[in-house]
Amino acid sequence: MSKSYNIAVLPGDGTGPEVVREGKKVLSAAATKFGFKLNFKEYDFGGDRYLKTSEVLPDSASEELRKFDSIFLGAIGHPDVKPGILEKGILLQLRFDLDQYINLRPVKLYPGVPTPLKDKGPEHIDYVVVRENTGGLYTGVGGFTMKGTSDEVAIQSMVYNRKQVERCLRYAFDYTRKRNKRNTLALSGKTNVLTYVYDLWERAFHEIGEADYPDIKREYYHVDATCMWMVKNPEWFDVIVTGNMFGDIITDLGAITQGGMGIAAGGNINPEGVSMFEPIGGSAPKYTDKNIINPLASIAAGGMMLEHLGEDQAAKAIEDAIMDVTAHKIKDMGAGRMGFSTSEVGDMVAERV
Ligand code: IPM
Ligand code: MN
Repeated sequence: MSKSYNIAVLPGDGTGPEVVREGKKVLSAAATKFGFKLNFKEYDFGGDRYLKTSEVLPDSASEELRKFDSIFLGAIGHPDVKPGILEKGILLQLRFDLDQYINLRPVKLYPGVPTPLKDKGPEHIDYVVVRENTGGLYTGVGGFTMKGTSDEVAIQSMVYNRKQVERCLRYAFDYTRKRNKRNTLALSGKTNVLTYVYDLWERAFHEIGEADYPDIKREYYHVDATCMWMVKNPEWFDVIVTGNMFGDIITDLGAITQGGMGIAAGGNINPEGVSMFEPIGGSAPKYTDKNIINPLASIAAGGMMLEHLGEDQAAKAIEDAIMDVTAHKIKDMGAGRMGFSTSEVGDMVAERV
């Protein structure tokens, strides 16, 4: 009997549904080719549903999603909804509820993809950022006092406990070992100013590394310096591990060096539970329904999902197909500048798979 996987699909807002359609097209091609089954079930969480029902996410959502083998997400963010409501209410809520404590974001320049980094090519830009995904400044701990007055105080706290830090670091060490490229894990922090939180990170990093990962070389960079070296010497990096906010910021920088939001994919991973894969870019509302958005990030997210499910060959076939298309077909990753429509790009990748 062939294996079968139940996948919850959350197309979301803006161009989300268009890129998810192409992602599913390629996933289905891979399933046929490699002999497994994917059962997709769609959910309409997003801005349109919120505007109609005033409900951001039904109470039952997380419980229901927990039953799937994986979640495939498009994009969240609607121009008619105040920023923060959907992002916090859907995306962050699901990451937290499902305890997806890792945000895995490969920064890999595929052949033929233009990068803004001078004199750098695919041989220089190939590393992975492990972003902690459930703690830090994103937990919503904080508040206002005297709001609206000139004495107003706003506080937002960077909250981490040892367990959160430790499980993220262990994942990053294991990942570095499994990747087996340069066997080097870099912690990106800010120990010179954030002397509590990143002190905890740095202590745990060296303790765990020394005790259990003597084969993995440890490096430390302040986050500001990390940004500088990601531009100047990206080839120094193998795997970078960092907290939630720094990870959010440096992966946008990483994304632009690998060709931009059209191609950058990521996974929200709970190694013991259900994970969620998504393009790291937003819903790009101005391009909605024009069939010009680049679906490669969604397709690549689908590839990451298959790898996570253990379908390594199928995942590799998707990545190879993407690379063939970037090397020989699409010359520009930008929406409307690919020389092909969204669905044509999906077709080309699916055919190659
Ligand atoms: C990302 C996004 C989200 C984040 C937003 C939309 C909440 O920027 O996935 O990087 O900050 O994590
Ligand atoms: Mn971000």
